[in-house]
Amino acid sequence: MKELKEKILKFGNPINENVLKVDSFINHQVDANLMNLIGKEFAEYYKDRNITKVVTIESSGIAPATFTALHLNVPLVIMKKTTSKVLSDDLVQATITSYTKGTTFELTMSKKFVNKDDNVVVIDDFLANGQAAMGAIKLVEKMGANVESIGILIEKSFQPGRKELIDAGYEVYSLARIKRMSKGEVEFEE
Ligand code: G4P
Repeated sequence: MKELKEKILKFGNPINENVLKVDSFINHQVDANLMNLIGKEFAEYYKDRNITKVVTIESSGIAPATFTALHLNVPLVIMKKTTSKVLSDDLVQATITSYTKGTTFELTMSKKFVNKDDNVVVIDDFLANGQAAMGAIKLVEKMGANVESIGILIEKSFQPGRKELIDAGYEVYSLARIKRMSKGEVEFEE
């Protein structure tokens, strides 16, 4: 997506070969116009796929997922991150370890909001190692729903997430795919 790539080149800050700071337009200050365009882009891409719910993971996925849900005219379900393994009958959980941040949490969702009749698109800001996306897929499937696709804003194609998801049989639609980075420089896939 041209507009997202332009923002990354102008305002993104690759601090090393692995981490791109996007806190001025995605995950701290939010560029609402860009999020709206991203939502329109995903909605256009998924418009004939009978999506019934958009699912995301708090917190940085919420802004783009909200606009995607708005333009698809379906509800948004936000999976929560908690450190508690206490599971009530109403909840499903999956343990996620973030390599980038070195943290572990329980991805948690209420059973009330996704069911076997749902056809879900999972939206998230970054795809790195694929752990968050895999956890989200696990919870959606635990509820008997179908994961139609994974929609990603920024895919770091040099990390294993995309391959893992594709090898597991899922579609990944990424708006910007980064081939490589170094301090101060970003190179996109063709
Ligand atoms: P994975 O889910 O693909 O396996 O990725 P990983 O565990 O390695 O990292 C997940 C967390 O790190 C996510 O944030 C993701 O947004 C963030 N992240 C990964 N790569 C980058 C990067 O290059 N730049 C930035 N800025 N963030 C990155 P999170 O823990 O879910 O945080 P948040 O959504 O609450 O902001």
